Amino acid sequence: MQDQAFAGLKGRSVLVVGGAGYIGSHVSKQLAARGYDAVILDDLSTGHREAARFGTFIEGDCGDPAVMDRVFREHGIGVVMHFAARAMVGESMENPILYYETNVAKTLLLLAAMLRADVKHFVFSSTCATFGETDKPIREDMPQAPVNPYGRGKLMVETALRDLQSAHGMNSAVLRYFNAAGTDPEGELGEDHAPETHLIARALAAAFGHGANLTVFGKDYPTPDGSGMRDYVHVNDLGDAHIQAMEKILTGGGFQDFNLGTGHGSSVFEVLAAVKRATGREVPHAVGPRRAGDPPRLVADSARARSVLGWKPRFDLDAIVKTAAAWHGKHPNGYGDKKK
Ligand SMILES: NC(=O)c1ccc[n+]([C@@H]2O[C@H](COP(=O)([O-])OP(=O)(O)OC[C@H]3O[C@@H](n4cnc5c(N)ncnc54)[C@H](O)[C@@H]3O)[C@@H](O)[C@H]2O)c1
Repeated sequence: MQDQAFAGLKGRSVLVVGGAGYIGSHVSKQLAARGYDAVILDDLSTGHREAARFGTFIEGDCGDPAVMDRVFREHGIGVVMHFAARAMVGESMENPILYYETNVAKTLLLLAAMLRADVKHFVFSSTCATFGETDKPIREDMPQAPVNPYGRGKLMVETALRDLQSAHGMNSAVLRYFNAAGTDPEGELGEDHAPETHLIARALAAAFGHGANLTVFGKDYPTPDGSGMRDYVHVNDLGDAHIQAMEKILTGGGFQDFNLGTGHGSSVFEVLAAVKRATGREVPHAVGPRRAGDPPRLVADSARARSVLGWKPRFDLDAIVKTAAAWHGKHPNGYGDKKK
């Protein structure tokens, strides 16, 4: 499909919005490795300049129409991958305006700029949080009932994308990640959120003594060891899916959506055991009560991505943790450019 995608791009570039962040930076590197020209736009609100080195970097806000008109005019963009967002569920409950402004309003402004520039291919970072709570492996056709402003905002954008297909012929791929984890196996890029809320990164920081001890929220769930289970998917596997989805929509197809996970749930205690295997260190932890709104088990059914895109995740939990351990072990302060 890559030849058709190159033909569809007609020499134009891929705009990676939010490409200085964790997932966007990894995908930019994979795009470059496959011969695509990436232009990275990021306002560095949570991202890292050092991570945005696999493409032409522009510092700017995707919600600024003047900036976006200039980017589309001057950089010959053929397709947009949109990672930029605030992405912490708890913060979204405390500050919904910030989430609706960044994740919804600014995404609509970006889409409006795309339409002005006649760019009609869009890959969108969505989330399993659009589904709310369910215990079954989650398929795309299951009801979407998000339980927090973060998930609701992402679902609003998904809804807008369906409307933009009908009204303007927008081709979009909505990719709903489960728990993104792991880092660049070559060690050039990492994961550095402030604060860090992701389990594997936090467990490694605790094991290496760079971060606070871990609290396991609940060990009375109806799961084999009582702790919550999540579907951890390696960031490069997500990158593969992005490139496959981009290549697909460059040949048309309208609105398409894919749930991305390995289909395998790992419990918190299984993650801590994997950290021990990767580092030889115990993760210092305490057990606390369940957190409100945390379902016992969230696992993807990614059969659609496997059959339609030919996507096949390559990293299991041990491989994911091994890549992350290598990076966190060498980078106790992350990229070192932001206050923690
Ligand atoms: N990390 C996960 O497990 C996960 C799971 C599901 C979905 N997602 C989604 O994936 C995307 C990327 O997540 P991440 O973990 O890489 O987050 P991140 O915070 O590391 O990256 C987001 C990037 O967007 C930039 N940004 C924010 N607002 C911007 C704006 N207005 N203009 C330009 N740039 C802006 C930030 O500076 C940052 O570099 C997000 O949309 C998130 O909701 C992440």
